[in-house]
Amino acid sequence: MSRKYCASLAAAYRSHVCGALRAADIGSRVKLSGWVQNWRDHGGVVFIDLRDRYGLTQVVFNPETAPEAHAGAHAIRSEFVLQVEGEVVARPAGTVNANMATGEIEVLVDRVKVLNKARTTPFMIDDISEIGENVRLQYRYLDLRRQPMQEAIIARHRVTKIVRDYLDDNAFLEIETPMLTKSTPEGARDYLVPSRTNPGSFFALPQSPQLFKQLLMVAGFDRYFQIVKCFRDEDLRADRQPEFTQIDMEFSFVERDDIITLVEGMIAAIFKEIKGFDSDLPFPRISYTEAIEKYGLDAPDIRFALPLVDLCGVFAGSEFKVFRSVLDSQGIIKGLNLKGGARLSRKEIDDLLAVVQIYGAKGLAWIKVNADGWQSPIVKFFAETEVAALGREMAAEVGDLLLFVADKAEITNESLGRLRLHLGEKMGLIDAAQISFCWVVDFPMFAWDEQEKRHVAIHHPFTAPLDEDLDKLQSEPLAVKAKAYDLVLNGVELGGGSIRIHDADTQAKVFQLLNIADEEAREKFGFLLDALSFGAPPHGGIAFGLDRMMMLLLGRQSIREVIAFPKTQKATCLLSGAPNTVSARQLRDLAIKKA
Ligand code: AMO
Ligand code: AMP
Repeated sequence: MSRKYCASLAAAYRSHVCGALRAADIGSRVKLSGWVQNWRDHGGVVFIDLRDRYGLTQVVFNPETAPEAHAGAHAIRSEFVLQVEGEVVARPAGTVNANMATGEIEVLVDRVKVLNKARTTPFMIDDISEIGENVRLQYRYLDLRRQPMQEAIIARHRVTKIVRDYLDDNAFLEIETPMLTKSTPEGARDYLVPSRTNPGSFFALPQSPQLFKQLLMVAGFDRYFQIVKCFRDEDLRADRQPEFTQIDMEFSFVERDDIITLVEGMIAAIFKEIKGFDSDLPFPRISYTEAIEKYGLDAPDIRFALPLVDLCGVFAGSEFKVFRSVLDSQGIIKGLNLKGGARLSRKEIDDLLAVVQIYGAKGLAWIKVNADGWQSPIVKFFAETEVAALGREMAAEVGDLLLFVADKAEITNESLGRLRLHLGEKMGLIDAAQISFCWVVDFPMFAWDEQEKRHVAIHHPFTAPLDEDLDKLQSEPLAVKAKAYDLVLNGVELGGGSIRIHDADTQAKVFQLLNIADEEAREKFGFLLDALSFGAPPHGGIAFGLDRMMMLLLGRQSIREVIAFPKTQKATCLLSGAPNTVSARQLRDLAIKKA
């Protein structure tokens, strides 16, 4: 790749980039510009590795052949910006570096110019030093000089290029939508921007372009995409940022399967080009119900088994007070069988309890299946028939550790689902090199928000119900399934979308169900309801998290590793110091009073 740019980049400062020269160039005179990676003096001869984004070239200052250049070399320090000129020569026998693309040659420098000096950097520009993340973020422009960051940013460019090419080949138009807009609900808080010209009014930064992309369908643009910044003021985690990038798409005249097939092709193209990975298409599909039953979570990691087992039947008549009271109050009991887990110590089992407690479980019951019988604090409360049925349901064998949670369904599923992931990691059940995609389909439309005492949309309020569930909208809203789908990779939600409601009546009904009063619906979404009443085509779409995709593609631990200028967990930018206070004058202009 680097050679490709040689001709086009040749200019006043350089004839070649630092990753370009090979044995075939021996004998040519070249000019290079770049940063000093390191500086070594071997018996009076100075060696410098000169670096740019294309690679490294060893440049040599010999006091005998070029005394003037050599004299200058002694004032040079790491990260100085140099321009050197000289002849490409073969490296002496025994000093060829097979790990370096330019390792067969070096440049014998006879002219050197310091283009700029550099202060001592707060950390070494290499890929081996352990550097605290805060200092990396504060000096991000230096951190970005490091090889792993260069790789990530370049790979990110390649991915967006693949996406643009693939979607352009499939008749998609890239269309920009506003950043200063109205709230687009995706379940997070909005970032607000005060309007100076309309005192007391605020724009919201978009949580996604959802409403505008639907309007583009009404406008007849049929296939839209955008690689777009979205803003969500929510609690941050390793895979979340307050501003992040979506690959956002919308299609007209399609059903779910048309969308799934088209985006599978795009994902396969990305993983092929960046990782050389051949996807097995189509990706498996799992219903939301099955995902929760078997894996406890709606973004299942299917790289390993360890399924959750429903034990409500086994314990239907249980007299163990914990299980009895949970079943009597509509809770559920589920278990996991950790093969070979009987060797875990009490301390290790207590650590597992701490994992489920994070997700609200009140306890973690356990049974060690030993050769001389079952060892457990609770088995004495079980009837013989229950012990037999439990052994059967969980396929218990000597050496196993059986683990149980009894609680409200959501808590049991989530805590055991998380425990399953924890055990997968801890017990080495996950092959880190494996890439396992799956679609989760047929999500419920609504969930009941106990705090707010109202239904909330699981995807967003514009998602269409399954046709066969339409008549249950009023009578049994929680039983209604949605035409929604998520793409999950190794347990991480990469993207999600849905077929949308395209008639104003159904949309108004869903708003009612979500307790959004007619007036509020008009005020918030009147423009959408209007648009739906002017001949909206059937449409649907999906959005992928580009940052998450890059994180998984490159095997990084956090999305901050694949974003040029990310924010901290507290949503601050350590480099620029944003957010910051503003002057009284600015607040006055915006008609905002100081608290
Ligand atoms: P959703 O809210 O599922 O759908 O978002 C789509 C994808 O965006 C990524 N994502 C994030 N990435 C980083 N930081 C965040 N804070 C963050 N939040 C979301 C995830 C997620 O799968 N408008 C709908 C899409 C549609 O229906 O077409 C939407 O935004 O990878
Ligand atoms: P207790 O009666 O609270 O001492 O609990 C007896 C055993 O049952 C302990 O091993 C607890 O960890 C376990 N236990 C308690 N509550 C639950 C629960 N909700 N689900 C699963 N196990 C539990």
